[in-house]
Amino acid sequence: MFTSATASLHPDYPSLELQLRSLLEGEHDLVANAAQFSAFIFDTVADLNWAGFYLVRPAQKGTTKELLVGPFQGKVACARIPFGKGVCGAAAQDRRTYLVPDVHAFPGHIACDSASNSEIVIPVIKDGELFGVFDIDSPSLNRFRLEDQAGLEKLLAVFVAATKFS
Ligand code: SME
Repeated sequence: MFTSATASLHPDYPSLELQLRSLLEGEHDLVANAAQFSAFIFDTVADLNWAGFYLVRPAQKGTTKELLVGPFQGKVACARIPFGKGVCGAAAQDRRTYLVPDVHAFPGHIACDSASNSEIVIPVIKDGELFGVFDIDSPSLNRFRLEDQAGLEKLLAVFVAATKFS
């Protein structure tokens, strides 16, 4: 039986990486791995109020694509986010991580949960294709440091390598 470490404000990311590899070992299903990954991050990284996926899906109107909420931990969230809108939409459009110390200062920030004050959003890219973003919110301002960005990007890369997206 897998048991994860207790949550830490300064997680030991190399140790989390080993635990994550063991958690996902032998499983490639997108929904299962995305759910496990969200729960793992929410449980091991302290001071979060939301952690989860927005996945690229066909837009409800028109022929473009948009982000649709996927497996997550936290309160119910906005279901659909257009590319370019809010922090998640910006990370999807620009295909890069956004580390936002104060979400209220971010133009177009989407306030799904009024408890969120800082946020980090990392694009989910495999073999050059964008499949979504992983969004982590904190009730504290300035929650995420560059060490967190590097550690979380590494953990997400383990999830991406383990998972079949199509
Ligand atoms: N705050 C995000 C929206 C998603 S929720 O926080 C879960 C944004 O501006 O992209």
